[in-house]
Amino acid sequence: MTLLAVTNLSVAYGAVRAVEDVTLTVGRGEIVLLLGPNGAGKSTIVRTISGLNRPAAGSVTFDGARIDRLAPHQIVARGIALVAEGKRLFPELTVEENLDLGAFVHRRDSAGIAQDRDLAYARFPILAEKRRDPAATLSGGQQQMLALAQALMSRPRLLMLDEPSLGLAPLIVAGIFAIVRQVAAEGCTILLVEQMAAQALRIADRGYVLSTGRVVMEGTGAALRADSALGDVYFGSV
Ligand SMILES: Nc1ncnc2c1ncn2[C@@H]1O[C@H](COP(=O)(O)OP(=O)(O)O)[C@@H](O)[C@H]1O
Ligand SMILES: [Mg+2]
Repeated sequence: MTLLAVTNLSVAYGAVRAVEDVTLTVGRGEIVLLLGPNGAGKSTIVRTISGLNRPAAGSVTFDGARIDRLAPHQIVARGIALVAEGKRLFPELTVEENLDLGAFVHRRDSAGIAQDRDLAYARFPILAEKRRDPAATLSGGQQQMLALAQALMSRPRLLMLDEPSLGLAPLIVAGIFAIVRQVAAEGCTILLVEQMAAQALRIADRGYVLSTGRVVMEGTGAALRADSALGDVYFGSV
């Protein structure tokens, strides 16, 4: 059953057409991958789903209702969280303060927030250890974990991650992807944006490949992995 439907979406920055007529769906419980080279329009799509950019044309439907006219905080309240590109944490705030910012939409539920915090610390023991330290003192991988934990504090039904592997060593990326898989197994639907295909395709049910704002390929994770044309997208021949 479809949880998220992006239909004939176009997004522009002034005269720059960043996304052109993109249609994609994410089913309940799926891990869907959005792949493509730098500048393909991946971030623009997830930012538009989050209400941070406005569509020039097309629609975004979540759980059967249009959300493309809602404000970002309303979209978070509906159950969509974005771990933005470049893990936008507050470097001077502590780990716990950053974590709690993710719970903004549940701010009246302090007991629930305390419970969610315990869950986050159980999932990421290193964050519990460093809960009183400024976020700036964390390693790159730990900051990505904090950004992910922060997004989970909003109790999303759809979690979107924009290039969580960026700048991280393969072993650290494997750890992040293992947690993404675990979050999915617990019932959260995932839309994962990545530039590097190999590792991400291994955890994805399905994927879409984007090039210069358009979907140029789509298929199951296994089919995309087996398709030699995937490499051509990155070398500019598709
Ligand atoms: N704030 C912006 N202003 C103008 N152009 C932008 C802006 N953000 C992105 N773009 C352009 O939109 C296109 C898609 O960018 P983006 O969605 O960031 O791609 P990706 O995430 O796949 O690298 C690129 O041509 C990029 O230069
Ligand atoms: Mg991007």
